Amino acid sequence: MSQTTNREATLYPEAQALLGFIDRSPTPWHATAEMVSRLTNAGFSPLDERERWSLQPGNGYFLIRDGSSLIAFRLGQERPSSCGFNMIGAHTDSPGLRVKPNPLQRKQSLTRLGVEIYGGPILATFSDRDLALAGRLVVRGNEGLTTRLIRLPRPIARIPNLAIHMNREVNTKGLVLDRQDQLPPLLGAVSEELPLQNEFRQLLADQLREDGETLDAQEIVSWELLLFDSQPGQFYGPQGEFIANGQLDNLASCDASLTALIRSSAQSHTQLCGFFDHEEVGSESHKGAAGSFLADTLKRICEQLEDNPSSLHQALAKSFMISADMAHAWNPAFASAYDADHPVQVNGGPAIKINASQRYSSEAVSQALFSDWCAQVGVPVQHYVHRNDLPCGSTIGPITAAALGVRSVDVGNPMWSMHSARESAGAADHGMMIAVMNHFFDNPVTQL
Ligand code: CO
Repeated sequence: MSQTTNREATLYPEAQALLGFIDRSPTPWHATAEMVSRLTNAGFSPLDERERWSLQPGNGYFLIRDGSSLIAFRLGQERPSSCGFNMIGAHTDSPGLRVKPNPLQRKQSLTRLGVEIYGGPILATFSDRDLALAGRLVVRGNEGLTTRLIRLPRPIARIPNLAIHMNREVNTKGLVLDRQDQLPPLLGAVSEELPLQNEFRQLLADQLREDGETLDAQEIVSWELLLFDSQPGQFYGPQGEFIANGQLDNLASCDASLTALIRSSAQSHTQLCGFFDHEEVGSESHKGAAGSFLADTLKRICEQLEDNPSSLHQALAKSFMISADMAHAWNPAFASAYDADHPVQVNGGPAIKINASQRYSSEAVSQALFSDWCAQVGVPVQHYVHRNDLPCGSTIGPITAAALGVRSVDVGNPMWSMHSARESAGAADHGMMIAVMNHFFDNPVTQL
């Protein structure tokens, strides 16, 4: 778990809680399970998409799609058509390495693990890290097929760097790993006893048994497993003013919005958080932000509460979405990579992300509203614009804004090394983001 001094815990309690959340959430499925347990503890009730719902104004609910996308909401005291939805969206997934279906490869006396690349990780940062394995399995037991989360108890794989003696240009040309031949991490020594693919199933079962869990290798049908850096999150800097961990993009935004939702209380409007998988690969899936999950849920809420055919559309026209994803913090070592007039500073507060081509959903009105909310809670606000000569990334904001027709702003806390195995950010920003989101949930949005 996170290594934290008392000083850091006192100065940055929200950042400390975030590091623990990430350490317990190595995969989107684990992050979703973590958030479910926090929602349950806070009195939110589970809903099942396959069942009929019975909803009560003022109460909190949550539902999951396929284990890694989650929507949580607290109904308003008023109907949605009167007061709309105050919504925050974020994503549960992070770029990295995913285990293939026939993963074991033998070379000489060593076994390597075949992996696919998920999203856009900085591949070189996965080298020389003690990589651990986690994800979900589908297993066939007495009751048929079931899914279960797994997390092996210790790091089991590594991508050993080539010594500089054989790679003399590594400090001038950088570390380039061939994606097919050089990326597969080293897993272990060869065992000649089992056919290769049975061996991987047996390895999973054996590792879990050492952790006191039971799993029969023959029962494993399929998996989604990923490798992650096993080093826990921590504070660094003379005053502990920075944090380092994997998956700050975007578990920091998930944690901030969920914390804000739980801290808020019932209002006239309905408060909602949507956490979606598959953002790093384009969001096009049945549970991704480009899928129907959010629209389906909003429609069902309106149908449940109102006998009015235009209620959903009236509600959406009165709604607002904060799309929360991390922002690129200015880095003095690479000053020319940034727009010099829009340097976003770590520990300088949340950044509004602006892109004229609508890679970010922010526009003048949504910018002004978000800036106002920051001012009302005494939090500084920054503005991020990508350089004109670099292609700009995107996130779920434009996707949900287009699908729902809801006014939206893209915001995020500043961070360095986005998509590294070990990312970094400011310790003070997380508490500031939670304060603004909390204010957003607890107050009606001015309609312009
Ligand atoms: Co992101």
